[in-house]
Amino acid sequence: MTITIIGHGYVGLVTACVFADFGNLVYVIGHTKEKIERLKNGDPLIYEPGLKELLEKNLKAKRVVFTLDYKKPLFHSDIVFIAVGTPSGSNGEADLSAVFAVAKKTAFNLKDEFTVVSCKSTVPVGTNKKIEKIINTYKSKNARFAIVSCPEFLREGTGIYDTLNADRVVIGSASNKAIDLLLKLHESINGKKIITDLPSAELIKYASNAVLAMKISFANLISFYCEKAGADVENVLDAVGLDKRIGRIFMDPGVGYGGACFPKDVKALISIGNSLGLDPLLLEAVEKVNFQAKSNFLEKIIKDVKDKKIAMWGLSFKPNTDDIREAPSVFILQKLLDMGFEINVYDPAAQNNVKKVFRDKIKYFDNPIDAVDGVSALIINTEWNEFKQINLHEIKRRMKKAVIFDGRNIYSLTMMKNLGFVYYSIGRPGINTVV
Ligand code: UGA
Repeated sequence: MTITIIGHGYVGLVTACVFADFGNLVYVIGHTKEKIERLKNGDPLIYEPGLKELLEKNLKAKRVVFTLDYKKPLFHSDIVFIAVGTPSGSNGEADLSAVFAVAKKTAFNLKDEFTVVSCKSTVPVGTNKKIEKIINTYKSKNARFAIVSCPEFLREGTGIYDTLNADRVVIGSASNKAIDLLLKLHESINGKKIITDLPSAELIKYASNAVLAMKISFANLISFYCEKAGADVENVLDAVGLDKRIGRIFMDPGVGYGGACFPKDVKALISIGNSLGLDPLLLEAVEKVNFQAKSNFLEKIIKDVKDKKIAMWGLSFKPNTDDIREAPSVFILQKLLDMGFEINVYDPAAQNNVKKVFRDKIKYFDNPIDAVDGVSALIINTEWNEFKQINLHEIKRRMKKAVIFDGRNIYSLTMMKNLGFVYYSIGRPGINTVV
């Protein structure tokens, strides 16, 4: 098949490379000349494990083509995917300006033969109908098309694996012909195929992200209870999660969820609820607890650290990505800088992005051990693997005071006790702590 993907972010580029790897010809349309040139040269622009290799392989095989042009790709394509960003607008609603702009350009360039226009971007209920209307308004008289909502469920950091091993592929459309084409394209993708209508497909995506965010906020809420009650949240959640109706997965307490999806999508679902005349209290609580997770963590640091030279490991919103959008680290760094802290940072991938925000206000290190030299506390924000079995004897030797604030519970309490650290974690009793 020949397909076009508009947008080359995490969703667009991973999808393009996977479908190209299956032998399809994939055009990827962007709107910045410099980025398209870099992509043509094999630079994926984002850090995503395995993506560079897959991109280079399919560029070499001439199965993936990057362009600014709409005309040629759309003339040849059976399916056009819209995969552009839908950031939060000023009131939490999804900003759909990019989606509508590319829908209009798609309309101008649609061929007469049938084309499927499939939206992968996360969009509020009713958006695909609006896309359909825009295309009908601007397309040439003879151009035939059908709209599909085909939301994406991949995670950053495991994007290729998630695409190949999807739990489900959701295809929402009123057109059987479009559904058949999408089913054919997804033949080699694992996972149950869910055929549904447009609004259901749109809601499935928001409901999925919201329930995951809710599980995290629930785990964080229970961690607050554990701290007050002297309980251990890991034991509590391990036992709770053994109930098959509940499960333990995606209930790791921490410094709160971040990234380009959960914060934006929970806000957008609240906004959708309000516009439908509902009162989305549960979702508002999910957001509130998420804020409490990072502010409670910050409070522990401020209460105990008097000597203001500290270090921070892990800046990305989660491991295996360089993405710092809505990362708890950014919130915590800003607050600590406002209070006059001097901060050394280390992250294996996200430092360049953090530099764009904090410039020379913090000090950057190219390894975690040098970052802790002479500091009176270490804060861990992201559970990168390389921190898990690091030489803690050496860390203790280098630090001025052996104090660790672990926002991801990566070390066992017994080990930290034996090593003689002052150790604060999430929802577990402190080791040698004063607060
Ligand atoms: C999320 C969803 O997991 C994907 O299914 C979805 O396709 C994607 O959003 C999207 O809408 O595009 P992503 O944001 O890449 O994916 O990352 P997650 O692995 O879901 O993690 C999100 C945040 O939750 C991270 O900050 C992570 O640290 C946090 N988290 C996750 C926890 O605090 N506890 C957990 O148990 C799990």
